[in-house]
Amino acid sequence: MAINRIGVLTSGGDAPGMNAAVRAVVRTALSYGIECIGIRRGWQGLINGDFVRLDSTSVGHTLSRGGTILYTARSDDFMTEKGREKAVMTCKMLGLEGIVAIGGDGTFRGALELSRLGVPVVGVPATIDNDVGCTNYTIGFDSACNTAIECIDKLRDTMQSHERCSVVEVMGRNAGFLALYVGIAVGATAVLVPEHEVNIERDVIERIRASRLAGNTHFMIVVAEGAGSAPEIGRLIKEGIGIEPRVTILGHIQRGGAPNARDREIATRMGYYAVMAFVEGRGNSIIATREGDIVELPIEEALSMKKHLQMERYKIMEAMQFSASVTKREGPGFQTL
Ligand code: F6P
Repeated sequence: MAINRIGVLTSGGDAPGMNAAVRAVVRTALSYGIECIGIRRGWQGLINGDFVRLDSTSVGHTLSRGGTILYTARSDDFMTEKGREKAVMTCKMLGLEGIVAIGGDGTFRGALELSRLGVPVVGVPATIDNDVGCTNYTIGFDSACNTAIECIDKLRDTMQSHERCSVVEVMGRNAGFLALYVGIAVGATAVLVPEHEVNIERDVIERIRASRLAGNTHFMIVVAEGAGSAPEIGRLIKEGIGIEPRVTILGHIQRGGAPNARDREIATRMGYYAVMAFVEGRGNSIIATREGDIVELPIEEALSMKKHLQMERYKIMEAMQFSASVTKREGPGFQTL
């Protein structure tokens, strides 16, 4: 049966590329003659009946915009049965035959609850944490990595000039994807992630010592917020090796800014396939990526899936430092590329 009207919302922490996904949902829906209603402020907006009609022009020039034009929120009310019942009422009142929910794990848990009350939902993964189990990639991750890298490159300039140690805390909630990818990309002396048990002496102090022995005079330590706090790590470094690090918490700056090419492209494809799920009579699914391809998974199955940080990458990060030490120990005549 053809559907006539769907809703779209963004929920949880915002991520670069959310607007590109909203735009793709709206334009794909319109191209199939489906009306699109924007629900503002995530699940809370669905409870409150906070909505806006979206046409093709309302999403014009949003592809490159950071944040989310639909606003976002984390809703405690939606965790309650009463709240969800109100949300269903709004769907009935607006004649919504399906909802595209753009966000992370928490958003999809909400989507599952709503789908159980008879409102079909399709989820589109968007979070800078990349911590959604069913998908290799979440919209916003690459842009956030690039923002963090740009900041850390700048920090490195001043750390190098002053021959200092820098401890930088990046986001990621309970996952170390952001920290590890960024750590590899900036050539960090050490990276601390929640997936790898942290031993300050082995994972930080020893690595600074080895790096210093190899001739380095500045050190970059990247800490995932889920692995510890940067000020505390800084204090332990001072205690352990006597150098006084400068501490930077990158914070929400990582969530802002224009989405990069990867995020615009993948958000557009995911938004398209989310609507196609409804067009083709499905729903209650999550759009995901598998080796660059887009796939659609039943929501319950998708939510039970786990994704692990590839520890191979951790070893690679460590190897980069080790080979730097070996190379320098060979002496001044040793040529490297
Ligand atoms: O999930 C995205 C994220 O930015 C996490 O990396 C971070 O832990 C959290 O959201 C911060 O949330 P808030 O915006 O509520 O401070």
